[in-house]
Amino acid sequence: MYSNSLTEMGDLEIGEIMDILALAAEFKANIRSHRGVASGLLMASLFLEPSTRTRGSFEAAMKRLGGDTITTTDFKTSSMEKGETFDDSIRIWGNYCDLIVLRHEESGAPRAAANISSVPIINAGDGINEHPTQALCDLLTLKEEFGILEGLNIAICGDLRNGRTVHSLAYGLLLLGNSVTFVPGTGLDLTEGTKKYLREHFGSVITELPPSQVGYGDLYEGDCEAKAYMFHKPRSGLEFDHKEKIIYTEVRPDALYFTRCQAERGSSANQAGYPKVNLNNLETEFFSRAIVMHPLPRLDEVSVLLDDHPRSRYFKQAANGVPIRMALICLMLGLKPWSSAATL
Ligand code: NCD
Repeated sequence: MYSNSLTEMGDLEIGEIMDILALAAEFKANIRSHRGVASGLLMASLFLEPSTRTRGSFEAAMKRLGGDTITTTDFKTSSMEKGETFDDSIRIWGNYCDLIVLRHEESGAPRAAANISSVPIINAGDGINEHPTQALCDLLTLKEEFGILEGLNIAICGDLRNGRTVHSLAYGLLLLGNSVTFVPGTGLDLTEGTKKYLREHFGSVITELPPSQVGYGDLYEGDCEAKAYMFHKPRSGLEFDHKEKIIYTEVRPDALYFTRCQAERGSSANQAGYPKVNLNNLETEFFSRAIVMHPLPRLDEVSVLLDDHPRSRYFKQAANGVPIRMALICLMLGLKPWSSAATL
């Protein structure tokens, strides 16, 4: 793990991800009986951007473990407003606590903090870059659903350009040997840089999925200019039959993961060109096995009529935030042992 901090998914090895998920499952089975574990320890939650789930679940996690939290939620109430540098602020906070959880509008801020901090840093979302602890909640939800985290096909839909959860989840899924289908909103595709990064890391093959041939076209109200495409391992060799049609069953998703349009980061959604899911979509054969996920908050990309649907999982994903963050706190502070050798 990078300097004992978690700044992006690339800091984690497969064994470490598995340790976090396994410990989270243990905590989840009995969430109220671990109050002695972090007693006497303090976590600083520095949230310099809005948050509901991430901050709430980190603080709940630390308190469920018997530790305590100190919080800052905006620049205006800290000395950064008086001109104090970010580096100095991190050094000071590090004197007051055992762990810093940082959300920041700038990509790379947690990594910069990790370089100078005397205590571990956890990235709770940095600009358009990454949100690794959300990806861990997503992976736990998938593991609970499918029992394994390999060989699945997860369709990530919406604002792929500026949605940071997308980047962390895609990395984690490909690392573990899954396929990822990207279903972008018009103008909101992954950047070429992100595609290159993923391809270089995982040697994935990219297959375009023309909407007319697969069901993803049904997620758009109008014609979408952007095409869905799939990152998959060369060995899974999506084949084409003699009519050049993609073999349907291989591209059907196990999960549909929606994201909102990140207006505060400059994204704008053309309504007709933004993928959304409703009851009718889930009833089609193409989506008949897919669960519905979303890191939340949602706008209208997941219909509220799906909230009680047997295949909706977005509230469960949010609930998984507490055990995941309990596990992460314990492992990073050495309160529980990592089982894999390649750590700390
Ligand atoms: C996400 C985030 O902050 O990136 N929210 C979350 O932490 N669950 C998603 C979003 O804001 O769209």
